[in-house]
Amino acid sequence: MTTAPLILITGGAGYIGSHTVVALQQAGFDTIIVDDLSNSEPGVIDGITRITGVRPHFEQVDCCDKPALAAVFDNHPAITAAIHFAASKSVGESVRQPLKYYRNNLLSLINLLDEMIRHHVDQLVFSSSCTVYGQPDHLPVAEDEPVKPAMSPYGNTKQIGEEIIRDAAAANDRLQAVLLRYFNPIGAHPSAEIGERPAGVPQNLVPFITQTAAGLRNELSIFGDDYNTPDGSCIRDYINVVDLAKAHVTALHYLLERKNAQPVEAFNIGTGRGLSVLELIALFRKATGVDLPAKIVGRRPGDIEQVWANPQKANDVLGWRALETIDDTLRSAWNWEKRIRKIT
Ligand code: NAD
Ligand code: WQD
Repeated sequence: MTTAPLILITGGAGYIGSHTVVALQQAGFDTIIVDDLSNSEPGVIDGITRITGVRPHFEQVDCCDKPALAAVFDNHPAITAAIHFAASKSVGESVRQPLKYYRNNLLSLINLLDEMIRHHVDQLVFSSSCTVYGQPDHLPVAEDEPVKPAMSPYGNTKQIGEEIIRDAAAANDRLQAVLLRYFNPIGAHPSAEIGERPAGVPQNLVPFITQTAAGLRNELSIFGDDYNTPDGSCIRDYINVVDLAKAHVTALHYLLERKNAQPVEAFNIGTGRGLSVLELIALFRKATGVDLPAKIVGRRPGDIEQVWANPQKANDVLGWRALETIDDTLRSAWNWEKRIRKIT
């Protein structure tokens, strides 16, 4: 009998990590989650278990705690590869508390790379972001578009994180990495067992929409209708979180089967379709039939006007593509919100 490869998932109790653990288990991998629960809850592990029937191994460890992270590797010599989600992710908070972001996001990555190299764990998938492109000069944006100066300390941690990985791989010829540049992840697992649960007032559009629809917020503020876009509101590429989770499985196969041409390769993970804020609101109303009070307010400082992905490289090289429809995706977000708010 062959044993399934064991994959370490830092931040695996979080929004994207939990969906990825499900996708990994369903693809036949064994999983070990390392998460300090700083932005997630232990109940997520139960949700994963209810979906897959298999309880992932879980270690409540802060990746910045080097000895504790080293102990995870020491105690699990079967770890074959790692996916690194663990990070703080609020753009606004990163402006107010930059050192928290540099410390958490960079130290956790450095510690992980150190332990991977020490334990001959050679394959890494890293959570990067379309934020590295800023406002691109060409749309849809492809991976060879230059990285623009970061607009926030959070964005800077993604740019520096990519550079740290490239430098570490240049100095260690066994180390191989895929950098997945996510566009805007939305939605929830169709079972409504796991989903996004932001602490406090949501900063991101879709959780604010679903909380408004659920009556937790009075109305949605649309941040600007005077942009240079067809309807004046900002344009993004909204990627279903289950599709996004599957991109990690594909990236892992790509690395484990040594199909990569370079030690470190970046891939856009998006749909290739840009939707405006006003279009997304209309689609939500249509897909769910739910009323959504909304008003136009001024621009949010720091917002990019428009960005959407050219996902051709991920399509052609990884064999990955976004499959879920936007209607199903928005319904999944609403079903998750209803489930956690006990709305029938
Ligand atoms: P999330 O906050 O839901 O998940 C991150 C998880 O990491 C949480 O469970 C948190 O408790 C954990 N964590 C944070 N710091 C840790 C540490 N030092 N040690 C151990 N665990 C730690 O966020 P998410 O939306 O699932 O994002 C996952 C990754 O994807 C992050 O790196 C984020 O920057 C990146 N990303 C997210 C988005 C997005 O819009 N959600 C877009 C692009 C990139
Ligand atoms: C989407 C659109 C808002 C809320 C952020 C980070 C980025 C990435 C994903 C990690 C924008 C508008 C929003 C609201 C609104 N994270 N909006 N009313 O800003 O594209 O990206 O999350 O890497 O780094 O910057 O996502 O969901 O906040 O906003 O009108 O209440 O919705 O102005 O146009 P964003 P978002």
